[in-house]
Amino acid sequence: MSALVIAVDGPSGSGKSSASRGVARELGLRYLDTGAMYRAMTWWMLHHGVDVHDSEAVAARAADPGIVSGTDPDGPTIHVDGADVSGPIREQEVTAAVSAVSAVPEVRRRLVALQREIIGEGGIVVEGRDIGSVVAPDAPVKVYLTASAEARALRRTAELAGTTVEAQQAAMRQRDTLDSTRKTDPLSMAAGAVELDTTALDLDEVIASVLRLVKERA
Ligand code: DC
Repeated sequence: MSALVIAVDGPSGSGKSSASRGVARELGLRYLDTGAMYRAMTWWMLHHGVDVHDSEAVAARAADPGIVSGTDPDGPTIHVDGADVSGPIREQEVTAAVSAVSAVPEVRRRLVALQREIIGEGGIVVEGRDIGSVVAPDAPVKVYLTASAEARALRRTAELAGTTVEAQQAAMRQRDTLDSTRKTDPLSMAAGAVELDTTALDLDEVIASVLRLVKERA
């Protein structure tokens, strides 16, 4: 099982994180949240006063943050220049800026290289937007999770305090549009990926479906 790479892609709120962590736990694999790496890059840019909508300014600093991702599915961690930023990267300011930062090719080149280093020989579940298409195109198992816009907004609203379903739906629609229309490595379903609509499924059902696919493919 050590060479196994499971790529899990999909839009925000499709249930990627919970499903990926659950599958990694079940199979004794490592887990990598690549969205957290783009968020960490974004947090660093904001923290250093870089204008996140100036792609040249972002590109010029893309090599600077020292990003270290933990891969334990029971307690994923992310550090930037030695600071634990697991909490701050989930804040609204970062969420609103992350699509702009992650559209910058220099940012993607750097983080894709880091992700491939972490994946190494495999034994890992990797979640993101471009894992099956760009980061690990040879992954034997590729899943593309989807869910209705309402279900995704409801899930996010349950996770976050002080927001409404309508506000979440509008924010997610905007982020998904940016993520799927950017020029470099947009969110897309990879060749060979299996689409799984999670709208009517609970977490255990999603995990069971992915485990079935792993059995078939790996
Ligand atoms: O999964 P998430 O919502 O935490 O991801 C945050 C953002 O990072 C997402 O809006 C787009 C970007 N992202 C990306 O461009 N490529 C990835 N592989 C993962 C995330």
